[in-house]
Amino acid sequence: MAINEQTRAELRELISRYPEPRSALLPMLHLVQSVDGYITQAGIDACAAEVGLTTAEVSAVASFYTMFKRYPVGKHHVGVCVNSMCAMKGGDAIWKRISTDLGVGHDETTTDGQITLERIECQAACTHAPVMTVNWEFMDDMDEQSATKLISDLKSGADVKSTRGPRVRTFKEVSRSIAGFDDGLVDEPATDAAMLAGLNAAKKAGN
Ligand code: FES
Repeated sequence: MAINEQTRAELRELISRYPEPRSALLPMLHLVQSVDGYITQAGIDACAAEVGLTTAEVSAVASFYTMFKRYPVGKHHVGVCVNSMCAMKGGDAIWKRISTDLGVGHDETTTDGQITLERIECQAACTHAPVMTVNWEFMDDMDEQSATKLISDLKSGADVKSTRGPRVRTFKEVSRSIAGFDDGLVDEPATDAAMLAGLNAAKKAGN
């Protein structure tokens, strides 16, 4: 599938949600990423034309945010957090194991197109370090064994769920959700007691 008239209509729908057209640019880029699997030149051209910016301006935005990929991404984008907390609690070991098993390094995709691997920075989920992400869904409290099983399940096409509940979908599908189109998963759980401990303590203290 490539950018077509339906995509352009959806780009215009996103623009209609904001007072200023250019405010819609980030969701628009997620939308074109959901179509092509990454930010193609055709996607940049479509965004620029619909929002009234130059292609250079759109490219500047697309190349600034790491969630926008300028290279083809596999069916699944797998992140391993290697920032301080996760690294110390096993993230470095997980990275080494998975990278070795898959035969790919940072920002590289397996030859079967199944998995793009990325070393990611802190995901603000240190409560559950070390964490991984699959298409930005969290995998909490991982270790080498659970990480290896996760990769095996993804490659075999087995049903995979985030440790927080939501089922894992493809990189393209999640990109469309991030763009702001309903995926029907709004009521799936995404937090647990450990993550809400600070909030609950503040409430208890009357803050
Ligand atoms: S260091 Fe990994 S989530 Fe914060």
